[in-house]
Amino acid sequence: MARGTEYSFLPKLSSKREVFGLGACLCLIAILLRLGVALHPYSGAGTPPMFGDFEAQRHWMEITYHLSPSEWYFNTSNNNLSYWGLDYPPLTAYHSWICGAIAHSINPDWVSLHHSHGLEDYYHKLFMRYTVLVADILIYFPAIFVFVFGVYRSLSLEDKLSTAFIILVTPSLLVIDHGHFQYNSISLGLAVWAVLASCTRHNLLSCIFFSLSLNYKQMELYHSLPFFFFLLGKALQQREARYLTIIKYGLCVIATFLICWLPFLSSISSIQQVLHRLFPFSRGLYEDKVANFWCSLSVLIKLKLLLSRGVLLQLCFWTTILSIVPSAINLLFYPTPYRFLHSLVNSALSFFLFSFQVHEKSILLAVIPVSLLAVVHPFVSTWFILVATFSMYPLLVKDGLVLPTWSLSLFFFLSSYLFLPRLSYKMHNQDRRINLLFYVSMGLFFALCISSHFVTPPARLPDLFPVLISGFSCLHFLGFLVWFNYMQFMPQQIGHTYQKYFRLVHNKPHEN
Ligand SMILES: *[C@@H]1O[C@H](CO)[C@@H](O)[C@H](O)[C@H]1NC(C)=O
Repeated sequence: MARGTEYSFLPKLSSKREVFGLGACLCLIAILLRLGVALHPYSGAGTPPMFGDFEAQRHWMEITYHLSPSEWYFNTSNNNLSYWGLDYPPLTAYHSWICGAIAHSINPDWVSLHHSHGLEDYYHKLFMRYTVLVADILIYFPAIFVFVFGVYRSLSLEDKLSTAFIILVTPSLLVIDHGHFQYNSISLGLAVWAVLASCTRHNLLSCIFFSLSLNYKQMELYHSLPFFFFLLGKALQQREARYLTIIKYGLCVIATFLICWLPFLSSISSIQQVLHRLFPFSRGLYEDKVANFWCSLSVLIKLKLLLSRGVLLQLCFWTTILSIVPSAINLLFYPTPYRFLHSLVNSALSFFLFSFQVHEKSILLAVIPVSLLAVVHPFVSTWFILVATFSMYPLLVKDGLVLPTWSLSLFFFLSSYLFLPRLSYKMHNQDRRINLLFYVSMGLFFALCISSHFVTPPARLPDLFPVLISGFSCLHFLGFLVWFNYMQFMPQQIGHTYQKYFRLVHNKPHEN
């Protein structure tokens, strides 16, 4: 076999035309899957008076289009913050404003002030679905292709295309963005642009992209420490102008923030109000059944009842920090793209598991860096991505997304098996007990998810299945956290063939 142990489902490509043709076909399949999910209901469909995330996004278009920025984050007679008040940073608001203006020009009823609450209209749903698709195609798709072609430069062309395809069909992002309804592909896409920029030594660009991503969704804070330590570590390794470089990075971040926040800088109280909307600590430790450590622990010990909110906040803060510190320090001393990508996983997982007020959808912040590593750790990444999808199962059932969840998970597993270079090789050649563990884990998830539809839980335990699913996912995530930390510290573990994927970006010292 010409390419050693690498299996690719794709035929060998010989001309540029073939590469473009095949790339376009794979993109079209990824788009088709998104359109298929979009046919299904969204969160809060037909459930007045509050509806769900879909209505929240529509409401923000209404508010931002009709009111001046000075009212967006304030409780005024035209903006009742108790009804889906804007709680994302300014870039989300500007994006809503643009979509609101387009919506208004198509049909003013879709965003009419006060009168459009809870609007449910077929063509409006279509419009909203297309806004997500357009954002996804404009920001996320190119980010993934440029990432794979720019960072995994030593992969064969066929393997680059297959890898990009696998990242593009990650089920959890598809069901949340195109089913449940959110615009994660924007914040995550900007973060991938930032990762790509810093891995290819465009560090100032990376600062700008990451600041933009943080200004679209504050959840990107989950990725901030790896970015900070990677850029700092690289700057400190330079022979000259270290501090000047660090100052330049800082100025880039500050300038991007200032531009994003410009309309809200009129007074200190205005800034405080926006910040207060972004970080509402008064909400509590957790809201729903989330595969978070505290939420799973609450089955055994009710910490909420034992400790005050202040103590809980501190407990969450210190456990999160402690869990990130090893990975961050390691990255500071060895700022390589390999360790950076692992550190992104470790940091996002630590925040998801141990921080205060976590949403089940926040697992997406770990899923994306894991999917970027799919070519390096095909087996564990596939496993992780499937577990992350099942961890949101109760939410997806509530949204009426059972069919797309199962079909996308199956599609993802089969395509990973066929497309991901070395996954099938690995599964045929690794210790059979590890494969068994994988099948047992998947089998148990399957059993739990299916039983949640057909088995009536005892009256004393109405939440039995959501709790079991989130507890089981939490166990997996704790295991994955340990494993990804181990892999970050031991790059030699991945062996020669894998290491070559990173060689090109490793070779030269990482400088500007
Ligand atoms: C906003 O004001 C309305 C009355 O206009 C009030 O009912 C609501 O509780 C307020 N919401 C917040 C979040 O302050």
